[in-house]
Amino acid sequence: MGSERGSKDERSSKKPKYSRFTQQELPACKPILTPMVVMAAFISIGVVFIPIGLVTFSESEAVVEVVDRYDRGCIPSNYTSDKQRTAFIQDEQTEKTCLRNIIVPKKMKQPIFIYYELDDYYQNHRRYVKSRSDKQLQSPASESETTSCSPEGEKNNKPIVPCGLIAWSLFNDTYAFSLKDKALPVNRKNIAWLSDRNKKFGSNVYPKNFQSGDLIGGGKLNESIPLNQQEDLLVWMRTAALPHFRKLYGRIEVDLEANDQITVEIGNNYNTYSFGGKKSIVISTTSWIGGKNNLLGAAFITVGAVSFFCAISFIVMYMIRPRQYGDPAYLSWNRNSAEN
Ligand SMILES: *[C@@H]1O[C@H](CO)[C@@H](O)[C@H](O)[C@H]1NC(C)=O
Ligand SMILES: *[C@@H]1O[C@H](CO)[C@@H](O)[C@H](O)[C@H]1NC(C)=O
Repeated sequence: MGSERGSKDERSSKKPKYSRFTQQELPACKPILTPMVVMAAFISIGVVFIPIGLVTFSESEAVVEVVDRYDRGCIPSNYTSDKQRTAFIQDEQTEKTCLRNIIVPKKMKQPIFIYYELDDYYQNHRRYVKSRSDKQLQSPASESETTSCSPEGEKNNKPIVPCGLIAWSLFNDTYAFSLKDKALPVNRKNIAWLSDRNKKFGSNVYPKNFQSGDLIGGGKLNESIPLNQQEDLLVWMRTAALPHFRKLYGRIEVDLEANDQITVEIGNNYNTYSFGGKKSIVISTTSWIGGKNNLLGAAFITVGAVSFFCAISFIVMYMIRPRQYGDPAYLSWNRNSAEN
């Protein structure tokens, strides 16, 4: 009886089992932030961050980049509203090729990357992003898995490959470059991610019924080339996270000299006019930090400079009004009573 009651008490007892963890008795580092330690920490952050910032900033400054917006300039100037421009671009009879001149501002070392840049283009819209069938892109056996692609899933009850709005809206402007009346070759191979070419898109999946509807959304695909070699499609289907984005078009593999004038023959086919989007062509060199990006260097320099500023102001305050550590006169209740 007695022992039974005892175990009951133990079970109903709310006292936690003793352990050094629950009793917060584990050894711990409790640094004392004396003024010296704080100043040294701020100074060392400054010393580390500012040189990194300067190096990244100068690397970014060394990247040569030219951006040429052409969506307006490539439509005759008597088409003034977006509605008229849309009509121009949708008319099959109108002349869509357009010549643009780009002056190279500084020597550009190869490889020189060519991007097209779109603005106000929401590739991140929820229903757009979901409008694809990854199974179908991977293997011919899943050709008819098009439910996620509706309404661009089937045409006359036959599956569209590749289905969905992303593929349907494939970008179809073309660019041909020439320098001093000689064609400048552009390497269009290896522009897509390796994982897309090897895994996500099948080497035995061929386009079918693609872009065969009444409303053409964008580029067409060659039906005799497997999807994983249609690199423009692969690049396009890696949807951009922001409405202002760049996608790789190709590479120029010769150096360009300062003041070279490059002529770009643009096939201005893609309709961004109906929704007020912007199109630009970008040619850019790279460095080890990637393309031009002044923000990274500026961020490092700012953090380093703020740290230095804190360190210096602490040093100044410490010299003007030093005070003793652990002086109980500074405790709030003592201070209040002193004031009263
Ligand atoms: C612009 O001019 C061209 C040629 O002069 C003409 O064919 C076209 O209809 C004009 N377009 C508009 C919108 O005025
Ligand atoms: C290019 O895409 C537009 C839609 O943005 C379409 O109207 C046009 O027919 C396409 N042109 C070519 C040559 O694929």
